[in-house]
Amino acid sequence: MEEVNITLLLLRWVHILAAMGAIGGALFMRFALLPAADSALDDEAHTKLREALRGRWARVVHTCIALLLITGGVNFALFALPPNVEAIPYHPIFGVKVLAAFAVFFVVSILMGRGTGFPSIRGNRARALSIVIGLGVLIVLLSGLLNQIRTGPAGTPPANDETSAPS
Ligand code: HEM
Repeated sequence: MEEVNITLLLLRWVHILAAMGAIGGALFMRFALLPAADSALDDEAHTKLREALRGRWARVVHTCIALLLITGGVNFALFALPPNVEAIPYHPIFGVKVLAAFAVFFVVSILMGRGTGFPSIRGNRARALSIVIGLGVLIVLLSGLLNQIRTGPAGTPPANDETSAPS
């Protein structure tokens, strides 16, 4: 059996688990919590629930964002710079992925924040969460594509990574 690189495996595990936490939480809120609270609670109880949830969930979301940035940045530095990859098409696709990720972080931070700014986002939470979920799906698809470009038959063999899919 080929040697397992524990550092690469940990980076990949943490990155994917943090992505699951961020996007899975948005899915649960959009399709279970929000409709259930809308139909079962009056305005006062709904506001109370939102406040009780906000602080707790904000900690989880901020941890996921920090982990995604750290592990994503390390992944990029280790694998995604020439000569490990061909800059075209890898880097433009990576650019779209990172912009989409920053848009997700921005919208989620507004939804979880205490402030009153950005009423167009706060005023329609269902729509904002749908945008987060849609962008999350796009990001996961682009990430898989990046992995294929880097490690697939047409990819440049990574100089410092002999495993098949160490993202
Ligand atoms: C919501 C945010 C994010 C999600 C859902 C996400 C998801 C993923 C997933 C699922 C993979 C594994 C792809 C695969 O092997 O099939 C991956 C890989 C990767 N991610 Fe992210 N990610 C996010 C944010 C970021 C950020 C902010 C960065 C950079 C700072 C980043 C950099 C990377 C890199 C470099 C890889 C390796 C791609 C490759 O194999 O060539 N990610 N990401």
